[in-house]
Amino acid sequence: MRMKMRNRQQKSSALCCNAGSRCSLPLVIWSLVGCVLVIHLYSVVRYKDRGATTQVRLTRRTVTRELEEVEEENFQIPPPRGKRSPRAVKRRGPRKQPTAIDEFLDEGSDLRPFFFPDRRSAIDPTKEGNDSMFFYPARMWLDMDGNPIQAHGGGVLFDEKSQTYYWYGENKDGETYHAHKKGAARVDIIGVSCYSSKDLWTWKNEGVVLPGEETNITHDLHRSNVLERPKVLYNDRTGQYIMWMHVDDVNYTKASVGVAIADSPTGPFEYLYSKQPHGFDSRDMTVFKDDDGKAYLVYSSEDNSELHIGPLTDDYLDVTRVMRRILVGQHREAPALFKYEGTYYMITSGCSGWAPNRALAHAAESIMGPWETMENPCIGGNKIFRMTTFFSQSTFVLPLPGLPGSYIFMADRWNPPELKDSRYVWLPLTVGGVADEPLEYNFGFPLWSRVSIYWHKRWRLPEGWRTAYT
Ligand SMILES: *[C@@H]1O[C@H](CO)[C@@H](O)[C@H](O)[C@H]1NC(C)=O
Ligand SMILES: *[C@@H]1O[C@H](CO)[C@@H](O)[C@H](O)[C@H]1NC(C)=O
Ligand SMILES: *[C@@H]1O[C@H](CO)[C@@H](O)[C@H](O)[C@H]1NC(C)=O
Repeated sequence: MRMKMRNRQQKSSALCCNAGSRCSLPLVIWSLVGCVLVIHLYSVVRYKDRGATTQVRLTRRTVTRELEEVEEENFQIPPPRGKRSPRAVKRRGPRKQPTAIDEFLDEGSDLRPFFFPDRRSAIDPTKEGNDSMFFYPARMWLDMDGNPIQAHGGGVLFDEKSQTYYWYGENKDGETYHAHKKGAARVDIIGVSCYSSKDLWTWKNEGVVLPGEETNITHDLHRSNVLERPKVLYNDRTGQYIMWMHVDDVNYTKASVGVAIADSPTGPFEYLYSKQPHGFDSRDMTVFKDDDGKAYLVYSSEDNSELHIGPLTDDYLDVTRVMRRILVGQHREAPALFKYEGTYYMITSGCSGWAPNRALAHAAESIMGPWETMENPCIGGNKIFRMTTFFSQSTFVLPLPGLPGSYIFMADRWNPPELKDSRYVWLPLTVGGVADEPLEYNFGFPLWSRVSIYWHKRWRLPEGWRTAYT
């Protein structure tokens, strides 16, 4: 509550003089003082009306306190060993001290079971027990048939009609190989999997809802190509489910988006076409549906050096001609968007192939920008965890309807030697308090709320996450 008011004051203060550098310093200071006083009075007057809202916020804070506890994680990088896998020797030579990321990428590392715990510790919804409803980031996660969930680079759609969550992602349940010497590790296209759930923990396999193409080599989805980061939106006007995805060739030179449609969330999806949106290369991407029903495509472009954002047509089947370049020169990928109290937020990763790197949070008043970069949202774990997004990469941020300001951060812990055994890192994300790094153009006052992703070895959703307080 207090944090909330402080934040509001700061936002308004900055608005008092947004001409920035051209204001004289005394004028700026007195304007700020004036603003703060006016807003303080306003807050006092408004306090009574806000009693009910305060109650909701307090309830929310109590409920989510557990999620926001800072949990440390320790692990030791083992000393260099005599034996290394040939690939590791090639990568760093025999002498150098391994970094945590080297260890993470090394199939022969002693830390392997720490990063990729084996099936004995799998999250298994078919087993009743103390672990029921608990998320364990990076453990194997089984569906209701007892098979590992195959929904990588995914996103979740909440279907109002069936009051069900649908998780779409890449089915990578094939052999990992390199198409040629310089090619990245890959798995042939199998298709887009779909899983359904009411509680976000027990997932039923709904099958491959958009299959890859087996025989037609000229087809975008021929198994030898690339299909990544599928995301599905429901269009209220047409009653159709529209899937957007990154479509590419084996060398990532096609750099396009693909579109598919279905009448039901579980498909089958009909593949329509691919294109380079606005005539630009497009690799990692996501789509976002705003409260007003307008949807947007966000994609990494200009060789991943910047992001582009633009509205979709009303039927969500294409982009319009409107596009803005954002985070120019910042080299970000894996975008995941969400909105809280009228402000847009985005989590992105850096570009380092399958290797993990540091996440950043961004914020904007208008979805079309300007977007400002805040800080690394990761909290807890340890320094290496925070610098590697807990050894994972963002893919989606899922709102929890009963807990405004609380979300599930969904990420992939890629396993390049064995991509089908990549894991899911789901963690609580909250928006609240003030950003801890001052930004440009605002006199050192943070404009935005802080976005925080909390590390937990084991956690579960608090009561009341399902339905909005009224
Ligand atoms: C479940 O929790 C109870 C009480 O804490 C404990 O006695 C029991 O051993 C636990 N069972 C498992 C399978 O961990
Ligand atoms: C193969 O795919 C291309 C591109 O989608 C399509 O134009 C063509 O008709 C397909 N050929 C067959 C035999 O299905
Ligand atoms: C991908 O690149 C490799 C090596 O440069 C080349 O041999 C191969 O033909 C390319 N494949 C496609 C589909 O572009």
